[in-house]
Amino acid sequence: MASFTVINVLFVFLVVFSGSSNAQLRTNFYSKTCPKVLSTVKSVVQSAVAKERRMGASLVRLHFHDCFVNGCDGSVLLDDTSSFTGEKTAIPNNNSIRGFEVVDKIKSKVEQVCPGVVSCADILAIAARDSTVILGGPSWNVKLGRRDSKTASFSAANSGVIPPPSSTLTNLINRFQAKGLSAKDMVILSGSHTFGQARCTVFRDRIYNESNIDSSFAKARQANCPRASGSGDNNLAPLDLQTPTFFDNLYYKNLLNKKGLLHSDQVLFNGGSTDSLVTSYSKNPKAFSSDFAASMIKMGDISPLTGSNGEIRKNCRKPN
Ligand code: HEM
Ligand SMILES: *[C@@H]1O[C@H](CO)[C@@H](O)[C@H](O)[C@H]1NC(C)=O
Ligand SMILES: *[C@@H]1O[C@H](CO)[C@@H](O)[C@H](O)[C@H]1NC(C)=O
Repeated sequence: MASFTVINVLFVFLVVFSGSSNAQLRTNFYSKTCPKVLSTVKSVVQSAVAKERRMGASLVRLHFHDCFVNGCDGSVLLDDTSSFTGEKTAIPNNNSIRGFEVVDKIKSKVEQVCPGVVSCADILAIAARDSTVILGGPSWNVKLGRRDSKTASFSAANSGVIPPPSSTLTNLINRFQAKGLSAKDMVILSGSHTFGQARCTVFRDRIYNESNIDSSFAKARQANCPRASGSGDNNLAPLDLQTPTFFDNLYYKNLLNKKGLLHSDQVLFNGGSTDSLVTSYSKNPKAFSSDFAASMIKMGDISPLTGSNGEIRKNCRKPN
């Protein structure tokens, strides 16, 4: 009995004081108020990803772009109105982030089973986990209890907090550091580029102008991404050359062979401080998988609204 008490005290201590994790979020947040939330979200994500596997990648990215702009608060989901410009048309997002219809579908199903209870910010966190699992990645217990913002910030989304693909390694490290994430978290979370697609406009300079790129890879990408800006800007290429609809560690193997698609991918392996991490994940898919889960939990902890802050939106696209 005595040892149980000691363990309990230790446990509480760990939960409350460990690292930078957010003590206010917890995995069982909806266990009484919306026990069906996880199965409801999962079923919608499953059918969306069955219809289009890329959607899994798009949902993971939405959670990232939500969390990096004023915390994981659903702000990225707010539509512009005549009197308000939100985050959707900011440079990192315009013509780029997607998945809003799927989020709407999830929200309406969740509202049917427990109206007014589950935040849009939490829906993004759950959908990112479910997508990862469906695409062959690790699972993790999603911490919940985030509330939704009543506003969004076009200027914050445009300020560089979400680093651009032209970033130097130092900039990437600093931008993640500013969110409480280490260089290692940054390398791991960049591994999300194991799935999904990118537009010609974000990798054109790399495939025409850079020298740390495999020449046959560059040529292949040039075939569908014309040099002149304005032509073919939205043509897509897979972020992960071989398996863009599966979670695996080929992303890192490709970096070793100078086959990173984005400038910001290749800087992770270009003679700098993160080379050894890339090498290690290229050799160890299991470590990538388990570290990815841990870093996603950390990312989901970024500055949530909790308690009586914010609100639970009824419609993810607009404040109540
Ligand atoms: C390290 C800094 C990062 C940079 C510079 C970056 C940049 C980009 C860019 C430029 C694209 C293509 C966008 C387009 O073509 O419109 C992209 C796609 C993507 N990013 Fe990142 N990213 C970063 C980190 C992350 C992180 C942390 C995640 C998730 C945890 C993530 C997940 C994704 C996914 C899944 C896609 C594909 C989305 C789709 O196909 O719809 N990225 N990223
Ligand atoms: C977003 O993209 C659209 C379509 O390409 C463009 O017309 C608009 O000017 C862009 N918005 C911003 C704020 O850059
Ligand atoms: C490549 O570099 C040249 C010279 O700096 C520049 O004019 C051009 O816009 C760059 N981008 C592409 C896609 O050629």
